[in-house]
Amino acid sequence: MTTARPTAVIILAAGEGTRMKSATPKVLHRIGGRSLVGHAMAAARATDPEHLAVVVRHERDLVAAHIAQVDATATIADQDEVKGTGRATECALDALPRDLTGTVLVTYGDVPLLTGDTLVELVARHDESGSAATVITAHLDNPQGYGRIVRDTDGSVAGIVEQKDATDEQRAITEINSGIYAFDVAVLREALGQVGTDNAQGEKYLTDVLRIAREGGKGVSAHVIDDLWQTEGVNDRVQLATLGRELNRRNNERWMREGVTIVDPATTWIDADVTIGRDATILPNTQILGATSIGADARIGPDTTLTDTEVGEGAEVKRTEANLATIGAQATVGPFSYLRPGTILGTKGKIGGFVETKNARIGDGAKVPHLTYAGDATIGDGANIGAGTIFANYDGVTKHHTTIGKNSFVGSDSVLIAPVDVADGAYVAAGSALTGDVEPGQIAVARGRQKNVDGWVARARAGTATAAAAQAATRAGTRHTEKSADPATGSDEGEA
Ligand code: UD1
Ligand code: CA
Repeated sequence: MTTARPTAVIILAAGEGTRMKSATPKVLHRIGGRSLVGHAMAAARATDPEHLAVVVRHERDLVAAHIAQVDATATIADQDEVKGTGRATECALDALPRDLTGTVLVTYGDVPLLTGDTLVELVARHDESGSAATVITAHLDNPQGYGRIVRDTDGSVAGIVEQKDATDEQRAITEINSGIYAFDVAVLREALGQVGTDNAQGEKYLTDVLRIAREGGKGVSAHVIDDLWQTEGVNDRVQLATLGRELNRRNNERWMREGVTIVDPATTWIDADVTIGRDATILPNTQILGATSIGADARIGPDTTLTDTEVGEGAEVKRTEANLATIGAQATVGPFSYLRPGTILGTKGKIGGFVETKNARIGDGAKVPHLTYAGDATIGDGANIGAGTIFANYDGVTKHHTTIGKNSFVGSDSVLIAPVDVADGAYVAAGSALTGDVEPGQIAVARGRQKNVDGWVARARAGTATAAAAQAATRAGTRHTEKSADPATGSDEGEA
């Protein structure tokens, strides 16, 4: 079925959200890696509207800047001091071209589980029925606080009454107004002009438009939905967490249906903008955040947090924190690795245990397996960085770069004091403190020579277990006696 695209979607986001008790405006609080208003905008965009307008007032500049960042083409509409959802909608219409025709949707900036599909359905229902106004409704066991849908004896929608204005009889109605509507724009504009503020809250109610349209002989209908989560707004942080968990449950379920194994969905958090390839496996306690993408057959976790990170096909990333990193296909990372921005690990590369990397390009098949800091580094294909190597990139004032060439080998516990450049096919001896370049085929040995002092233990550590062990080995004419000295007599007071 082809549905006409709406002329505009209006998102109401001018309210204060006092119950959040926050310095951050409510609609900028985040779940699933997006702001609440970001979710509303994504759902709105799915209907492919000609115009998208967001109504702002509380913390106007902060909210407007965020909206522009999410979608530079969105219209920011400022609500004036007149309160109410009707006034907010009117302000949006004023910010849009005067000559609009067709369907306008109205939604809220704080209802994050509403989907684009539901809005598309709403437009379809609205078009089919030929109504001037269609409202999404739901049946709630506890309708407390919501506007109630008042129906005529023939079942048609007569209007909406707010909780605070309702009679006891109306309060018993369990069909509620979600606050999400489709309107014929001309009827909406005309009716809003007639809405007053004579009600319990002294506000200009958008809900009055339905009654006015109906009284004007226009068709008004309801689109009842079963998925109550989609109508639920965030008013406080308890709801923020509850909706955040449900959103995550839905995202996880979507990925599992796409062929991703998620071992423990309850402890796996996947942001809305993440992509995951088939047959990837996500192990418990893992957060996949921001614009992260995971290739097919990759294995992520347990205990891993990836933010804005790209993981190639078949890579394995265990107990790792990575931010703005790229991990090549078939590469292995972890356990206990920390990949900071600008880390690029090549195909079949390795970043191992207790390794921190930053602005480091590590080539295909290159290995940084143990206990290393690699900052501001280029490590060539097939190179091997020994355990405990430190790329000393910072001289206290400036950062410098280190290059390790292809198939080169840096011995354990070396300090590479940047800037240095180790050519392709070179060695650095273990324990070096390297300050100069190394040419192809060379080994650089940059450490003190070993010197052994005879008889030092007997002189300087007389009476210790060490001295006794030395004496026993010397007496036996061997380097190691079979049994070590009896620990009971191996003390300082023991036989010397
Ligand atoms: C509104 C509806 C109610 C419905 C409920 C669903 C009206 C009069 N009532 O009530 O029937 O059941 O939503 O959640 O419409 N907003 C503005 N400017 C304003 C006032 C509100 O932009 O002046 C925005 C808020 O930021 C929020 C949304 O509109 O996103 C709803 O406002 P809220 O005050 O929560 O409306 P309710 O009283 O809950
Ligand atoms: Ca509300």
